[in-house]
Amino acid sequence: MADPAPFAEFAGVGLGIDVHNQHPDWRRLLELRAAGELPLDFLEVYTRGELAGARAVRAAAGDLPLLYHDDALDPILPGGLRADAVALAAANMDALGAPWCVCELATRRVGERYLDFFLPIVLTDEAARVAAENFRFLDDRLPGRAVCENPPYQLPVGPRHILEVQARVCEEADVPCVLDLGHLYSFQLCRGLDPLTGIDDFPLERIVELHLAGAVLDASQGVSLYRDAHGGAELLPVLLEMLAELAPRCPSLRAVTIEVEDAGIERVVRQVEATRSALAGLLGAK
Ligand SMILES: [Fe+2]
Repeated sequence: MADPAPFAEFAGVGLGIDVHNQHPDWRRLLELRAAGELPLDFLEVYTRGELAGARAVRAAAGDLPLLYHDDALDPILPGGLRADAVALAAANMDALGAPWCVCELATRRVGERYLDFFLPIVLTDEAARVAAENFRFLDDRLPGRAVCENPPYQLPVGPRHILEVQARVCEEADVPCVLDLGHLYSFQLCRGLDPLTGIDDFPLERIVELHLAGAVLDASQGVSLYRDAHGGAELLPVLLEMLAELAPRCPSLRAVTIEVEDAGIERVVRQVEATRSALAGLLGAK
């Protein structure tokens, strides 16, 4: 069952991993932690719904707290969530002992077709209302909390700012949220805004987790686009600046996660060091 105790206060810096990826090898990360060579406070586990993967990580992780990340729930689609997807998310949370399930305001489906990229939420009040209904439904049925994450953008559609839409979903569904700093930066770039524009009006007490990930800026089409590369690239310095400024302002912050899928071990170690130094004040107080 979910154990919220490790996240009752700020737990520290963890890594987002995909159990199906060869790099980084999550078992090697656990070995490095056990050897005292990698400070690791938790893992956020992406299993693509595969229960065997969740059980394998739980069995190997010892006392390390685990979170669950699911991107197959499609919480922005009208018509409600699929019962089989919700049941699978609940089973994965149970297997991991995860106190919450992170789920983006996005979908990978168009009809029956599966896309290997996210379609992010349309930025309207109507879309926010649909997502809030879905998140309320999900939060009622999971063994822990449903936590709503802002998605990446390369072409925002709709008049609202993503932070307005995410705030509305969180307030109407009464759920916590993850703010993915790279995804937020991707949106701000599209609109020509500063990295933290809109944050002063956001309910910061809803934020339980912050995400960071590697990325590249692609200006080949004449405008800067953010390409979310996770472990396939380095952390942009601007993300670490956003983290250092924002983390101390989030009173409910429990976790800072670096999403490192596809990274080599050296890059993981480097990114953990950079993130921990941006959080020196908070980690020192832990
Ligand atoms: Fe994320």
